[in-house]
Amino acid sequence: MVDSVTIGHTDAEDGSKLFEIVMPRFGLGVWQMDKNECKSSIIHALNQGYRLIDTATAYGNEEAVGEAIRESSIPREEIFIVTKLRRVHATGYDETLQRCRESLALLGLDYIDLYLVHAPPEDISAREDVWNAMEECMKIGLTRAIGVSNYGAAHLRDMRDYATILPSVNQIEIHPWLQRPELRKATIDIGAIPMGYSPLARGQKVNDVNIEKIANSIGCTSAQAAIKWVYDTGAITIPKSSNPNRIIENLQSLNFDISGFEKEFNLLEESYISGWDPTTEP
Ligand SMILES: NC(=O)c1ccc[n+]([C@@H]2O[C@H](COP(=O)([O-])OP(=O)(O)OC[C@H]3O[C@@H](n4cnc5c(N)ncnc54)[C@H](OP(=O)(O)O)[C@@H]3O)[C@@H](O)[C@H]2O)c1
Repeated sequence: MVDSVTIGHTDAEDGSKLFEIVMPRFGLGVWQMDKNECKSSIIHALNQGYRLIDTATAYGNEEAVGEAIRESSIPREEIFIVTKLRRVHATGYDETLQRCRESLALLGLDYIDLYLVHAPPEDISAREDVWNAMEECMKIGLTRAIGVSNYGAAHLRDMRDYATILPSVNQIEIHPWLQRPELRKATIDIGAIPMGYSPLARGQKVNDVNIEKIANSIGCTSAQAAIKWVYDTGAITIPKSSNPNRIIENLQSLNFDISGFEKEFNLLEESYISGWDPTTEP
């Protein structure tokens, strides 16, 4: 039911593809889940067919993610784990490597599937060292793939000057109320796949009357319409729910055909940022 996407790393020098790995295009975000909630939600989601879990050191639940994976009956290699280097930890080369090892220890895993810089490091002069350490994390096998999150077009452009290996993914807020065609294009232009977070605008838009009308015409819920819209842009998406029924509802969004409603979805655009937006920072 869930498609996969091939994510790849591009050589910054000559633009050649270095190697590629396959990841699911839909998964469970676990931000704002406490440990028990996180564990039970992941086990439930895996039983329903989810195979991608998005966590971060900042969420404080990497340990629970690891426990859930071990307690599930799904082999580790069939599950794709994303975690992120906390912004306050993105200060330099050694710290980045150390924090990646700490995430692995908390997860209790041998490798991460995709390790992301959570947001452009606040110290601009540290960005090169942090990324070089991310490359090292991948070379020494701590993670299978590396990427960024909340990088704007200018941050991505700058990476061409200091990266040896370009990111495979840029995780950014994307939903019908913040469609971001330019940033999605800038992401693809650097060889990365857009990964859309907060497809429901952190739940702030699930009662929007305009999407309700679209959803009624399609025969799905508003949440399903929003998630499927993000998915149909070609992005990977990771709605969060700790409600067992909604975990199923969100996965089932992939079964709906939303074609024919392009104009109605385009009219929802309102540059709506649901929380933070580091993409516009220097
Ligand atoms: N890289 C970053 O900076 C960044 C930032 C934000 C998020 N993320 C990632 O993206 C994931 C998803 O984003 P998000 O957590 O911000 O928000 P979201 O997925 O847009 O929305 C989650 C909210 O919507 C509710 N919800 C979920 N499914 C629903 C449904 N079918 N009907 C009605 N309400 C529903 C959830 O409540 P219930 O749990 O009660 O269902 C929760 O309050 C995060 O968990 C995290 O992994 C990354």
